[in-house]
Amino acid sequence: MTQENMASKAYNPDRVHAPGATIGILGGGQLGRMLALAGRAMGYRFVTLDPMPDAPCGQVADRQIVAEYYDAAAARQLAEQSDVITYEFENVDAGVTSLLMAESYVPQGSRLLYTTQHRLREKRAIEAAGVKVAPYAEIKNEEELREAVRRFGTPCVLKTATGGYDGKGQWIIRSLEEVQEAYDALSKAKTELVLEQFIRFEKEISVIAARSPRGEVKVFPPAENVHVNNILHLSIVPARAPEAVLKKAEAMARQIAEELDVIGLIAVEMFLTADGELYVNELAPRPHNSGHYTMEACRTSQFEQHIRAICNLPLGDTALLSSVVMVNVLGEHVQPLLDWIVNPESERVVPGVTAKLHLYGKHEAKTGRKMGHVNLLSETVEAAFHWIEASHIWESIEKN
Ligand SMILES: Nc1ncnc2c1ncn2[C@@H]1O[C@H](COP(=O)(O)OP(=O)(O)O)[C@@H](O)[C@H]1O
Ligand SMILES: [Mg+2]
Repeated sequence: MTQENMASKAYNPDRVHAPGATIGILGGGQLGRMLALAGRAMGYRFVTLDPMPDAPCGQVADRQIVAEYYDAAAARQLAEQSDVITYEFENVDAGVTSLLMAESYVPQGSRLLYTTQHRLREKRAIEAAGVKVAPYAEIKNEEELREAVRRFGTPCVLKTATGGYDGKGQWIIRSLEEVQEAYDALSKAKTELVLEQFIRFEKEISVIAARSPRGEVKVFPPAENVHVNNILHLSIVPARAPEAVLKKAEAMARQIAEELDVIGLIAVEMFLTADGELYVNELAPRPHNSGHYTMEACRTSQFEQHIRAICNLPLGDTALLSSVVMVNVLGEHVQPLLDWIVNPESERVVPGVTAKLHLYGKHEAKTGRKMGHVNLLSETVEAAFHWIEASHIWESIEKN
């Protein structure tokens, strides 16, 4: 490729990719699948790269390249076949990102990935954007940990700086006696550690913002999130919190999107305390499980919005059309859900609730594995809770 060619492929705020263009997605999981479903409806073409043949995204894309994420030759193939490249997970290898940026067009760039791949860098960036995070300390050895635990008091949370998800790579330290055990367990991961003060939150909420190269920003309505065993169980929208708090949460997400020069989506997880304080917990530079409710409940889904943003189209209206509860479907819920959905009684039991089913096409329904979700649209979120109860599908966890 000539120098001139490379320059023309560099980030350019005026560059627009109209429908018809091919979007490459690094990663072939459910987020990629729902991106491709939204984008195909608009007329985009898709190619995805994932090591697992017939991956959730591969099933709905035009093509799947079956290879490991760090395979340079495969990444080069993805670059050749794509006009625009995006990713559906944040732990993208830095070498692969720079290869893709040199050989294709990655409007999201690499800086935000670099920031969000590391909890300390992420917290510093959020603070630099003028937004509050829970008090934290960088931990280099056991002595530093002991000192910080004394300072913060217990409980507090020790986390690995990289590689954590769904509560993995975390340890809640409940007393000074646990310091050594926690340190030994997490330092095995050979990454830096961060200690956080435990926030006695009343609710967890999240806000997803989108920003396009032309600088347009749109924010989705905040979701109230309920986790069970550290995995998202419910997203409730509208979130049951005072209007002023929700407005503030939206403003924080907007500020982060602007100050961090986000292109595409940024999901902002927050803690809300009883006295109305909001602390940002973490960021995800991609579609987020807590934004799945937008698929039917908003005028524009998070997936369409991400495509609009990376292709530099005008962003879509994010207005909420209906109250909604999103409930996650894990491996153990698949069969009961299918039995319930085909049962005509399910339509009659809770009138006024429309259940929108999304399954991701994963072959093995392992316990705890995210297999799909249901968006329950209704006049009130209480009606959706009744539907969940009446179905008995989530009974074991509802009792927790
Ligand atoms: N500092 C904290 N105070 C209170 N709860 C926390 C804190 N950090 C994490 N948690 C709880 O653990 C969950 C998972 O932590 P998070 O940092 O979001 O990691 P993950 O990458 O696993 O999502 C949070 O959603 C929250 O419920
Ligand atoms: Mg989280």
